[in-house]
Amino acid sequence: MQLDFRDCTVVVVGGTSGINRGIAECFAKAGARVAVASRSEDKVEDTVAALAVLGAEAMGFTADVRDQEAVKTGFAGIEKAYGKFDVLVSGAAGNFPALANGMSANGFKSVVDIDLLGTFHVLQAAYRHLKKPGASIINISAPQAFLPMVAQAHVCAAKAGVDMITRTLAMEWGPKGIRVNSVVPGPIEGTEGMQRLAPTPELQKQATHTVPLRRLGQTDDVGNLCLFLASAMASYVSGTVIPVDGGWSLAGASAFSATLGDFMMQTEKDV
Ligand code: COA
Ligand code: NAP
Repeated sequence: MQLDFRDCTVVVVGGTSGINRGIAECFAKAGARVAVASRSEDKVEDTVAALAVLGAEAMGFTADVRDQEAVKTGFAGIEKAYGKFDVLVSGAAGNFPALANGMSANGFKSVVDIDLLGTFHVLQAAYRHLKKPGASIINISAPQAFLPMVAQAHVCAAKAGVDMITRTLAMEWGPKGIRVNSVVPGPIEGTEGMQRLAPTPELQKQATHTVPLRRLGQTDDVGNLCLFLASAMASYVSGTVIPVDGGWSLAGASAFSATLGDFMMQTEKDV
């Protein structure tokens, strides 16, 4: 079944690789005009070209989500070209596995600044450009938002904050007809995030084995949930945090975290 996003403007921040690029491609295939943003000009150009090959009108801009002025400038350009935003996906994030004692305060801060403050920057900057009523915002969260994971103190803190931004802004912006939800991907195959969290064959095997459905997710699995959330079929869904993870967050993510913890404790030194 294909949902129809023709004549819709979809903006995907952090949409130039991995899961978020997969989301942008799903919207492109469903007929949307798609804009992407991230730090690397090469990645933006490559993604815009790929979206055009899929038949979408596509554009992009470079910005670091830690720089709200750059995000504001980029958003103004998108509205000028494509009109108000129907859908905003905010997914820029950084991650590396590090035990708290193996991480500087600046390492912790870099992830909080990208994931949490960056989400605030993106949503606040987007507000004036959102279709009211009707816009759908999707924050890309992670199981770390509600499950403690060893070597992930920075990500756990940041993504928990992202989900609370989802809930708070669903309340503040609901009266304007804007829906805000979080999507929580499980372990997604072939992504930078999984490469960082499961750098060894043993950890990769453990990641798959701990998913009740016994497979890693695909970017389309996440993209399909985003299509649903952005569609009229989800017009009464707001303020929710929805996993798309094959059941991983029930127990498997915690088992994986224990193995990751053992791996990190063998290799890491205190700062
Ligand atoms: N272990 C411990 N600390 C680390 C680390 C690691 N593996 N990688 C980076 N850091 C620390 C750095 O040492 C630095 O701290 P310091 O100044 O005290 O030395 C701090 O984190 C910032 O690193 P820097 O490289 O200057 O940050 P950046 O802003 O250029 O990049 C990151 C941000 C570190 C999150 C980078 O990995 C990134 O850009 N990631 C984006 C892609 C990604 O992570 N994808 C996965 C899915 S979310
Ligand atoms: P990825 O390929 O590294 O994607 C991250 C994207 O964000 C890239 O487009 C990157 O492009 C951009 N980005 C990073 N830092 C940025 C910054 N400071 N400003 C602007 N853009 C920035 O990672 P991924 O693994 O697919 O993860 C995507 C999202 O899914 C993240 O929110 C992550 O937390 C979440 N997630 C992933 C998994 C997984 O299995 N991979 C599981 C759960 C949740 P540039 O480098 O050009 O900036």
